[in-house]
Amino acid sequence: MKKNGIRKAIFPIGGLGTRFLPATKALPKEMLPIIDKPLIQFVVEEALAAGFDELIFVTGRGKEAIENHFDIAFELEQTLRERGKLRVLENVRACSLPPGCASYIRQQEPKGLGHAVLCARHLVEGAPFAVLLADELILGGRAPAIAELVQAYNTTEGNVVAATDVPQEHVSRYGILAHDPRNGMTCAVRSIVEKPTPEVAPSRTAVIGRYILSPRIFDYLTRQEPGSSGEIQLTDAISAMLQDGTPLTGVYVSGTRFDCGARDGTIKATIFQALQDPDLAAVVHEAINTSNEKRAAS
Ligand code: G1P
Repeated sequence: MKKNGIRKAIFPIGGLGTRFLPATKALPKEMLPIIDKPLIQFVVEEALAAGFDELIFVTGRGKEAIENHFDIAFELEQTLRERGKLRVLENVRACSLPPGCASYIRQQEPKGLGHAVLCARHLVEGAPFAVLLADELILGGRAPAIAELVQAYNTTEGNVVAATDVPQEHVSRYGILAHDPRNGMTCAVRSIVEKPTPEVAPSRTAVIGRYILSPRIFDYLTRQEPGSSGEIQLTDAISAMLQDGTPLTGVYVSGTRFDCGARDGTIKATIFQALQDPDLAAVVHEAINTSNEKRAAS
């Protein structure tokens, strides 16, 4: 595991997942799988691969499955060992986090992403930190996406967000950036606004669920009034810091990004992952052919 100088990563996992009901009635949305791996495990692996070793989960009611997922499952492991299922055992063991590296705290009310981050203030203690949202999957990049943001943070010392261009009709789903022309992988941000309507959006460049933030964000979050959806928005606190002179950088990450908070993104991520595996790729092609044949016959 590579050290990166920034050690703490926050995973806000208190959200309700209404877009995937009824699947998320009893199951945390972060536990929805892409084939056989839950969304939350992808982002945790991303953070570990980038050298983060203090993982802070801001959880909520009904999210206990996530805590169990990252724990040692003694009886399950014993059974798999007895049955000689060693490959599966290895995969199960790989999910358990190193002792003491994870903290779980509760966001008691769903007051927004900014409020969730604020709940972790006492665990962050004056150091810069990462925020990773489990419903944004970034796969197949040259480096873990969050590591690409750390690199930008080390040169600018300001706040950093992951960015990508989205279709005009999707801008109201995201934090949107007004920015200077792109310079390689980065852009200097002039303003940031949470979920604008397409008519007033300053660009099509969206924030995609990865942040490296200065600990001074907590002073802003403490004062932050509710914004979009009546929630305390992280975007609004970042915007206030920017207006006070703290630079904000957008990083166009090298990986392919999937919005798994929406059904279209989840389907694309599943197919993308399946196509990486020759056996599963054959299954995808077979399913498409069958579907085409059925359509042609009807
Ligand atoms: C959050 C942020 C938004 C960001 C998005 C990325 O919104 O508030 O700025 O663009 O994540 O997925 P949410 O999806 O939680 O509504």
